[in-house]
Amino acid sequence: MLLWLAHPIYGQAIREHILLDNGWKFSLGHATDPTKDLFYRVYNDFSKTLSKGINFSSIDYDDSAWQTVDLPHDWAVTLPFSEKGDWSHGYKALGSTFPEHSIGWYRKTFDLSKSEAGKRIELQFDGIFRDSRCWVNGIYVGHHLSGYTGIKYDITDLVHFGKPNVITVRVDATQNEGWFYEGAGIYRHVWLNSYNSVHSSPEEVFIYTKSIGKQAEMHAEATVHNRETSSQTFQVEWSILNREKKVIATHKSANTTFAPNEKVTVKSNLNIPNAQLWDTEHPYLYTLTTKIISNGKTTDLIHTRFGVRTFSYQPDGFYLNGKKMKIKGVCVHQDHAGVGTALLDELQYYRIGLLKAMGANAYRTAHHPHSPAVLQACDSLGLLVMDETRLLNSGREYRQQFEDLIKRDRNHASVFMWCIGNEEEKIQSTETGERIARTLVSLQQHLDPSRVSTYGANVGNENEGVSAAIPVRGFNYNLYGLTDYEKTHPNQPIIGTEVASTVGTRGVYLPEIVLDKAGGYSGHFVADTLRAYLLDQDKSYPSWASQAQQWYSTTANDPRFMGGFVWTGFDYRGEPTPFAWPNISSHFGVMDVCGFPKNVYYYYKAHWSESPILHIAPHWNLNLPQGTVVKVWVYSNTEEVELFLNGKTLGKQKTPAFGHLYWEVPYEKGTLKAVGTKNGKRITSEITTTEKPFAIVLSPHKTQLKAGKQDAVVVNVSVVDKKGREVPNADALIQFQLTGDARIIGVGNGDPSSHEKDTFAEGERVERKLFNGKCQVIIRSGEKGGKVQLRAISNGLKEAVVRMN
Ligand code: GAL
Repeated sequence: MLLWLAHPIYGQAIREHILLDNGWKFSLGHATDPTKDLFYRVYNDFSKTLSKGINFSSIDYDDSAWQTVDLPHDWAVTLPFSEKGDWSHGYKALGSTFPEHSIGWYRKTFDLSKSEAGKRIELQFDGIFRDSRCWVNGIYVGHHLSGYTGIKYDITDLVHFGKPNVITVRVDATQNEGWFYEGAGIYRHVWLNSYNSVHSSPEEVFIYTKSIGKQAEMHAEATVHNRETSSQTFQVEWSILNREKKVIATHKSANTTFAPNEKVTVKSNLNIPNAQLWDTEHPYLYTLTTKIISNGKTTDLIHTRFGVRTFSYQPDGFYLNGKKMKIKGVCVHQDHAGVGTALLDELQYYRIGLLKAMGANAYRTAHHPHSPAVLQACDSLGLLVMDETRLLNSGREYRQQFEDLIKRDRNHASVFMWCIGNEEEKIQSTETGERIARTLVSLQQHLDPSRVSTYGANVGNENEGVSAAIPVRGFNYNLYGLTDYEKTHPNQPIIGTEVASTVGTRGVYLPEIVLDKAGGYSGHFVADTLRAYLLDQDKSYPSWASQAQQWYSTTANDPRFMGGFVWTGFDYRGEPTPFAWPNISSHFGVMDVCGFPKNVYYYYKAHWSESPILHIAPHWNLNLPQGTVVKVWVYSNTEEVELFLNGKTLGKQKTPAFGHLYWEVPYEKGTLKAVGTKNGKRITSEITTTEKPFAIVLSPHKTQLKAGKQDAVVVNVSVVDKKGREVPNADALIQFQLTGDARIIGVGNGDPSSHEKDTFAEGERVERKLFNGKCQVIIRSGEKGGKVQLRAISNGLKEAVVRMN
């Protein structure tokens, strides 16, 4: 994919932004044995600019035996599981106990045409996990510690025009930044940027809404740099374009002259008459073009998507465009089934689409900056974002990380609040915590006066430390302290930065053993301890957490509380609370790691969306002796529900405000049917005991793929009986064969105890078991395109084929 931002009049490329994802070379190194680590650390590579001793970074180093990979790439997902691995990271054989798996080397050659000479050339990494060092043509260009913020290197002086160049990156994933699966490698995009010497950058253009009346008053600014060797004069010309690309506002700044190496920030106001507002229902986006004109020539042109909207954070709640809005949010970690943290943009859109369909209106980037594609998807699909920096720390490294995050994301329509940290138990209630918070909040207000910050504090009614300094008090759990806190803080807005942490395993119903301790955790658990699964109902939660219906009814009945972010939208690898090995993945998700809904999904959907919901659980393939009492839950937003088993009524009930309907039903094979009424309308839903599995069904989320290796299709896999009814407890092993110019990049099934392979080498047999009736295959498009066919086969089942273009 080649993305360039061409001059609208002359057609010449003013600024280029070229994707550099394809065709990298990759090899594991070694964290403790330099002889297995390209002899890095044996030679003193920092004694000379171009060291004679080091050749791993030179163009003629022979990397032909290295593996060829396309980015995004996460090597952790390809590693085996090991009991010696780290609980919080999902027991992958990575980290200090596995030095042989924890260093990754990447190399990439690229050409620059002679016509690029004279331009500034920049290398942009959107995310590398983590601790990366980079060389270009043998010369060291820098070190980037964070696994979550991006880094740009100006490589103008080092590149060759008209002959090959080489980038070398050493990645050290030995240490963690979080307590959850974090992946390893260059797991986001890499770009090659080129621009002129009098220029700005996407991060230094900033637009926000000051007020909305007959016309929307916008603040626009751009920081312009002079990298010429003489003084230059420039003007900034702004235009705002609507969706139809029609220019609806313009402004040109006065001439400014600046010396070499100087930078100047130019600010202005622009007005948009009758602006279309951005909100979660109508995510209308405008484009700001920032043109820099120097000596009569356009020297830079930057396009920025933005939304016109106002945020107001009041003691009685949050207002979007003057309208009060409850935050119905989810916290999300960034890994997905099959691919680990290496998500193509299409997969980010897929996941955000699932959250939208559930009725969520907000996303918390727990606990670090997420991929730029997440923010783009939230802008376009209409989800608010609480954007979080990795640590509550005002030291140089972390202040810089927070600044990089704000500058990267502040133009996004979706970002409504910054989060300066999470559960720093040792300092959050101290004076140090308070001082750090004040520094970070003040930095945020300087870089982005249009928003405020919060912090995820796992304390109740407390006023010390961060809580005293934070504009919006964030509650992680501890809602027992809410009422008292509200009384003592009548002027502070309050939000649920983290709520619920209900645990459940998709499709698991039996056996039901109630425990107040599991895996060393106290709490309330309805668990199958033998297989380390939890009942797929809103019943289990560790001591600090709650049922979904507990936190949400508290929230819904409290007009002051802004709403909250459920821990979590999707299951993620690591933190298999309350269990441990062989459990490797969390149970917190409203959906599993593939995005398949658990039962609690329908609770949220019933209260968060407009769609009529009538959802019965468990499924009715229970294999129980006739007459065994089954606890049947129904989630609904209808007014009342009547339940029938094989045509006989089991009684009618009024739907409780924020709870669930409940029947004890003596088991009998057949059909369980619910009939609900909403505004006088009848709604029905039913579940039936199926016959045995008969055929495989493949459900791709789309069938058209874009060539160029950047597109993906998610294919969901299930099994039906002879009558075409999905078999909810099917567990067949399915094999997948793909033909055409595309590749299977991962498979998954949402089983938090599965040690099956997620990824496969070229030529290897691709297979995955169904877990409670479902699994998933993720396909990446090829370079050229054409017809692609996926075939799924399994012993004794009718095969399925899906064709894509
Ligand atoms: C919170 C924490 C999250 C996650 C969660 C599990 O305390 O902020 O990252 O660990 O608990 O319930």
